[in-house]
Amino acid sequence: MIKLNPNFFKLKGSFLFAEVSRLVDNYKEKNPDKKVIKLGIGDVTEPLVPSVVWNMHIAVDEMGKKESFRGYPPYEGYDFLREKIANFDFISRGIDVSPNEIFVSSGAKEDVANIQELFSTDIKIGITDPVYPVYLDTNVIAGRTGEQIDGRYQNVYYLECNQANNFLPEIPKEPVDLIYLCFPNNPTGQVATKEYLEDWVAYAYENKSLIIYDAAYEAFIRDPDIPHSIFEIPGAKEVALEMRSLSKTAGFTGVRCSYTIIPKKLRIIDHNNIVCNIHDLWLRRQSTKFNGVSYITQKGAEQAFTKEGREQIDKVNDYYLENARIISETLTAIGIEHIGRKNSPYLWCQTPGSYLSWDFFNKLLNDIQLVVTPGVGFGLCGEGYIRISSFNSRENVLEAVSRLRQLKI
Ligand code: MLT
Repeated sequence: MIKLNPNFFKLKGSFLFAEVSRLVDNYKEKNPDKKVIKLGIGDVTEPLVPSVVWNMHIAVDEMGKKESFRGYPPYEGYDFLREKIANFDFISRGIDVSPNEIFVSSGAKEDVANIQELFSTDIKIGITDPVYPVYLDTNVIAGRTGEQIDGRYQNVYYLECNQANNFLPEIPKEPVDLIYLCFPNNPTGQVATKEYLEDWVAYAYENKSLIIYDAAYEAFIRDPDIPHSIFEIPGAKEVALEMRSLSKTAGFTGVRCSYTIIPKKLRIIDHNNIVCNIHDLWLRRQSTKFNGVSYITQKGAEQAFTKEGREQIDKVNDYYLENARIISETLTAIGIEHIGRKNSPYLWCQTPGSYLSWDFFNKLLNDIQLVVTPGVGFGLCGEGYIRISSFNSRENVLEAVSRLRQLKI
């Protein structure tokens, strides 16, 4: 008899952004004349830059000719892209990453969701609270988290982020095997210094842990002292892997392209004393379950790692950061405390008065037709917060802040 995976029933009813989307659709159905502005899910609004589009057009033409047509792409990505990524993102910054340590993929969400398959179900995972829900939910589905009691899974080590620790979680006082870190952080927008990451790398060495470092938002870092990669920390290549994405970096949320760096040095000694190379295991996994990213997409992505392409992309990202500044200015004016925005497209905002996250979400939707993300959807420590995304047109952001100024709290 067919049976379902019981772990699915340990999940919350729906994925956070799906739930927000459902509520917004309901609202729009009932209020068809109202203009809703979405600063909820971090989805880009500005078009692909000309340099990316130009290279994609060339690739489309190549695919239309017998002599330059290509079938399945390599599992790890085309060398032309892996070489550009290694040079542009790492070697030019003095970080030792070689092209053959890079796996091109269709999205950091997919990679961060799938990577846990490599590890035993009896390890302890450490995730921040609040957290990008994919880290947690995929471990729940895999059966690694145990039961949920009062909003907490029993076998998860929660790295709490709050005002008291400036939204930078403390290093655990006990061994945790697999740790998810994300900087600039989604959802809080907080960034990590080199010293802070050094402590994590030292912890991982001491406890034989592995760090999954999600750097999906590194392109928004403007402060020169903030590290873009965990591999800027000496020794990190032996204890960490890193995920990056073109979704927010280059407006690829609809195109789909990301990359994961798994150092060749990254080895795991498991309970049975088997020394295993994570790089090779991931290649085994990807070649079994994934058939690569299209040539056209990879040709477009290539331009993000050229001087010309990156200059165009930086302008778009500066535009979103200016949106964030405008939102921040308004929040300050109306007395809503917040962090983030300087090196991140997100603002993490305390709800005013005694509003809970979902109550304030509903108030913003009903009173001023503004969509944000309720902080508690990212974890218990997010209660009393909302996340505002700066991904939208300037026109909509100006309209949103003007509505915020009229909000009666
Ligand atoms: C977010 O809003 O947190 C992101 O857009 C979600 C994602 O990248 O999957």
